[in-house]
Amino acid sequence: MKTLVTGGLGFIGSETVVKLIEAGHEAVIVDNLSNSKLAVLDRIEGITNVRPRFYKIDLCNLDAITDVMEKERPEAVIHFAGLKAVGESVEKPLMYYHNNLLSTMNLLDAMRKFDCHNIVFSSSATVYGVPEHVPLVETDPVGHATNPYGETKVMIEHILMDVQKSWPELNVALLRYFNPIGGHPSGLLGEDPNGIPNNLMPYITQVAIGKRDHLRVWGNTYPTPDGTGIRDYIHVLDLAEGHVATLKKLAQNPGLVIYNLGTGKGTSVLEMVHAFEKATGVKIPYIIYPVRPGDVAENYANCDKAAKELGWKAKFDVVDACRDAYNFQKKNPNGIE
Ligand code: WQD
Repeated sequence: MKTLVTGGLGFIGSETVVKLIEAGHEAVIVDNLSNSKLAVLDRIEGITNVRPRFYKIDLCNLDAITDVMEKERPEAVIHFAGLKAVGESVEKPLMYYHNNLLSTMNLLDAMRKFDCHNIVFSSSATVYGVPEHVPLVETDPVGHATNPYGETKVMIEHILMDVQKSWPELNVALLRYFNPIGGHPSGLLGEDPNGIPNNLMPYITQVAIGKRDHLRVWGNTYPTPDGTGIRDYIHVLDLAEGHVATLKKLAQNPGLVIYNLGTGKGTSVLEMVHAFEKATGVKIPYIIYPVRPGDVAENYANCDKAAKELGWKAKFDVVDACRDAYNFQKKNPNGIE
């Protein structure tokens, strides 16, 4: 299936493009390079021997995405593109609402115009807000995200559901990712944040290569076994496979489908530190800091629905992901250049 991948040069997007190509799909990439590097295209080619067509466009420009849609006529879209820094979204909510919502509406306009009726949306566990219980299932209440970034994910899910109702031929898959970590085993692709990493894994890997002197553990007073926050960390390779399995599902014209993509297992911050040390042999010094505002204590997935309906299950564990994340960081000490 010819698939347009928005944000296809990003962390999850690029791994997904590799898996699409390996599964025999044709991938076309659009990306505005605001949080990714053109060099990733060379690396995708290096891994797959295929160089996907790439368009440097901003989805907020309706004409630009319409032109690409007319030219390429994809059968499906996987929509990763969007601003995604939780803290930044609190400081600049308008930028997040404008960018993430307008780009999605433009994409849908262009899809409708050229009858592209399959979309996979990169949603997030953050749509569940503060979970009333764990593990989370897809029927759990959604809608009280703890930050504007998460709110945009909630709103885009609603936009997609409403558009699907008005356009019954449209197949929509909402994939709610938990915490993606890891990298491609070649060390060519991985998480490459700008500046000081917000997320746990890239911070750990920067400590591991000596770029930062210790990990700040945001709080150890949570009601969890070791007091630190618990999350469901999923290897980005498993996440990418989940998208390939979802495209197959959309070919059956299911209308609207929603899946949690996680491992079904919770890992605390200190357990992650120990997993990293076990995987790499590198000691990670840490200091306990106060709880980070907006964080939840515990958040992990029940992934039975994806297993049953997609035949998809995470194959890798956090030790595998620590190994691959460290391998990427060692080979790219200053990120992808
Ligand atoms: C994980 C745990 C922290 C950094 C967010 C978004 C989610 C997705 C992934 C974009 C928490 C602790 C972290 C550090 C720490 N975003 N931590 N020291 O907040 O679960 O999820 O990122 O796609 O939508 O909500 O991820 O990696 O920031 O935090 O102790 O330096 O690690 O307190 O318990 P989070 P995270």
